[in-house]
Amino acid sequence: MNVLLLGSGGREHALAWKIRKSRFLNNLYIAPGNAGTASLGVNVDIGVTDFGAMKRFSLDHDIDMIVVGPEVPLVEGVYDYFHEDEDACHIAIIGPSRKGAQLEGSKDFAKRFMSTHNIPTARFKTVTLDSVMEGNDFLDSLPPPYVLKADGLAAGKGVLIVEDLNEAKRLLWEMLNGKFGTASNRVVIEEFLSGIECSVFVLTDGKSYKILPVAKDYKRIGEGDTGLNTGGMGAVSPVPFADELFMEKVRSRIVEPTVGGLQKEKIDYKGFIFIGLINVEGEPKVIEYNVRLGDPETEVVVPLIKSDLLELFTAVTMETLDEKELEYDNRYAVTVMMVAGGYPGTYENGKTIEGLDDIQDSLVFHAGTKNVEGKVVSSGGRVLSVTSYGKTMDEALETSYKNIAKVRFNNSYFRRDIGFDLGI
Ligand code: AMP
Ligand code: GLY
Repeated sequence: MNVLLLGSGGREHALAWKIRKSRFLNNLYIAPGNAGTASLGVNVDIGVTDFGAMKRFSLDHDIDMIVVGPEVPLVEGVYDYFHEDEDACHIAIIGPSRKGAQLEGSKDFAKRFMSTHNIPTARFKTVTLDSVMEGNDFLDSLPPPYVLKADGLAAGKGVLIVEDLNEAKRLLWEMLNGKFGTASNRVVIEEFLSGIECSVFVLTDGKSYKILPVAKDYKRIGEGDTGLNTGGMGAVSPVPFADELFMEKVRSRIVEPTVGGLQKEKIDYKGFIFIGLINVEGEPKVIEYNVRLGDPETEVVVPLIKSDLLELFTAVTMETLDEKELEYDNRYAVTVMMVAGGYPGTYENGKTIEGLDDIQDSLVFHAGTKNVEGKVVSSGGRVLSVTSYGKTMDEALETSYKNIAKVRFNNSYFRRDIGFDLGI
């Protein structure tokens, strides 16, 4: 098979690494990719939402399957674009239709979907400028803190958690007046849920599904989960508190009705569902859906999959996923992200990265890198992540920390406490 993978982060490097191992792979192209993916396939200079260029490239290079990493092309309808095109509809897309992608593209859509299908989640109310008074009344009815979410995509920045009621009302007003552009024309106000979070990834062909090993990511820049939110500073899998009993609740109360709901609503969905969960005293509740894999969770979940990924993806397109086994490694995997100093605020690109050849017993997934004159240089806030396996989480962490110490670039930073809250 010839595969085109869309995206350029650590998630895509991990997917490229796994797809490269498939016995069904012929050529792998990554658009636009990074210095890491360049060693596994051919990077192609096409933007992830340039569907026209993607179609021309795919026809010229006999592409059989497009695997979509990030959410934006899905929300913009890459699946529908190819399916509705006479010349390109034979190309399989791993990712949901535009309608399915609304689970991530519209928080209001996702909440209504959950209400309709009785999927446990926080109580909510969606408001627009016309109904701001109702929004204020709903805030009055809730205990603090208050959760305000821009309805549309806001590059991971659209959620505000506010302690003070008047501040929440002021921010609601600002959001409705364009604080996050049109993404916050509608705002979902939610009850605050207290608990520990984890990420559950489901691969579905629209009828049946496989649940992947559960992961937990670390979003804050500072140790002890302090400071600003980032794209993710590390991840671990599996997650000790997501035990058999918890996962059975997740399966029967959340995954089944989610896949069943997609079917009932006749939503085309052939790809990954990312369920952001919170464990509220043993009861799983949905914080959010994403319609792709998470980053950096992918850098631990994908290395734990033993099955051939292209075989699973082909089963997804043929709607025969129920005939396949998902085999996975029962070790732990952890990843630690190395970022540019200053991130998630301002930081500098173009730092030469050294020491990559000295890594032993870990995998390095590039997140923001490119090749410049034979050197690997940084080109993003999150630069690379170091993934290791271990019989225990501590053993895996020890390997990652030993190896990350060998990687050097000017003004780098990483958290030394990944996994700190999992109590083992
Ligand atoms: P989201 O973009 O929906 O994932 O929200 C970003 C983060 O905000 C989540 O990962 C949670 O940590 C937090 N969050 C979102 N909704 C809630 C909620 N209802 N209660 C508590 N925390 C929340
Ligand atoms: N790690 C969270 C995300 O990918 O959205």
